[in-house]
Amino acid sequence: MQRIFSGIQPSGVATLGNYLGAIRNWVALQDEHECIYCVVDLHAITEWQNPKDFAQQTREMAAVLLACGIDPTRHILFLQSSVRAHAQLAWIFNCVARIGWLNRMTQFKDKAGKNRENASTGLYVYPNLMAADILAYKATAVPVGEDQRQHLELANDIAQKFNHDYGVDFFPNIQPLILGVAARVMSLRDGTKKMSKSDPSDQSRINLNDDADTIALKIRRAKTDPEPLPSEMEGLANRPEARNLVGIYAALADMDADSVLRDHGGKGFGAFKEALAALVVDRLSPIAAETRRYLADPASVDAVLRDGAGRAAAIADPIVAEVERMVGFIGV
Ligand code: AMP
Ligand code: TRP
Repeated sequence: MQRIFSGIQPSGVATLGNYLGAIRNWVALQDEHECIYCVVDLHAITEWQNPKDFAQQTREMAAVLLACGIDPTRHILFLQSSVRAHAQLAWIFNCVARIGWLNRMTQFKDKAGKNRENASTGLYVYPNLMAADILAYKATAVPVGEDQRQHLELANDIAQKFNHDYGVDFFPNIQPLILGVAARVMSLRDGTKKMSKSDPSDQSRINLNDDADTIALKIRRAKTDPEPLPSEMEGLANRPEARNLVGIYAALADMDADSVLRDHGGKGFGAFKEALAALVVDRLSPIAAETRRYLADPASVDAVLRDGAGRAAAIADPIVAEVERMVGFIGV
């Protein structure tokens, strides 16, 4: 059985983008794979997190994953900071990856923005930690949204350079699994920017814990253009906001975008947005209710995570110990 690894940062509340680009696929992959899913709190502190909010966000992210259908009995769900192997392997990868490789990472450029000198060094080496997350388990497939493709290419470069430098055939090749019509959900305020849990504007995203009224209002206010919806895909060219809403509808209705346009083409956005809001509420409200149920008993969430950390460490620790021997650490 193929081993899968993926992670999500507890840097805010999970969004519809996280759900469609990642979490929903994580759930589906559980039937035929061995899955290891991680709330990556070490990654989250590459940008400032208020400690009190951060602890709550971390627990809530775990609750959301359980509410979406991650099964911690057949698979593993845990916190990155609870398994030391991640940070240990990341240090070795800091010494394998080249500065020139990291300089090409578009996510660093986006997140650091103009004030690059003031970004944390953690944000810069973030992709090395991500490579360590995956390779500490020798996972071979990683379900992510489109925005993570470049990081997975870098992880493969690190794996290959390690194998080459140490003359071993140790780390496997990693295959990105970028699935579905909504692998890149865009902001509701700007169709050229991805929907993000760390966007300053809450109106730019649907949070998985938004109530029905909030969802309807955000969709009604979503940026669009004055033209009606086209009946065919060509009509979406150069209309990023329209394309985004159609993509969200298609993903949630399990349709392709062509069929959505066949049903809704010619309508103005008013009517389409109403149909979309009803669909989003229908799909997300059971998740929000289930998340609240888990959060009513935080100790049960913690117990799941503690159990997951133990089982994760049992896989990762021997792999990282072997890496340390290959590097030449005496280990006494
Ligand atoms: P992050 O929110 O950066 O921790 O991302 C967690 C997962 O959600 C990753 O697999 C991302 O690729 C995916 N993801 C995040 N934002 C989006 C988005 N707007 N559209 C699709 N996938 C996304
Ligand atoms: N960098 C990913 C993101 O922001 C999160 C992540 C961390 C991850 N480690 C990972 C995803 C390992 C897949 C595999 O979306």
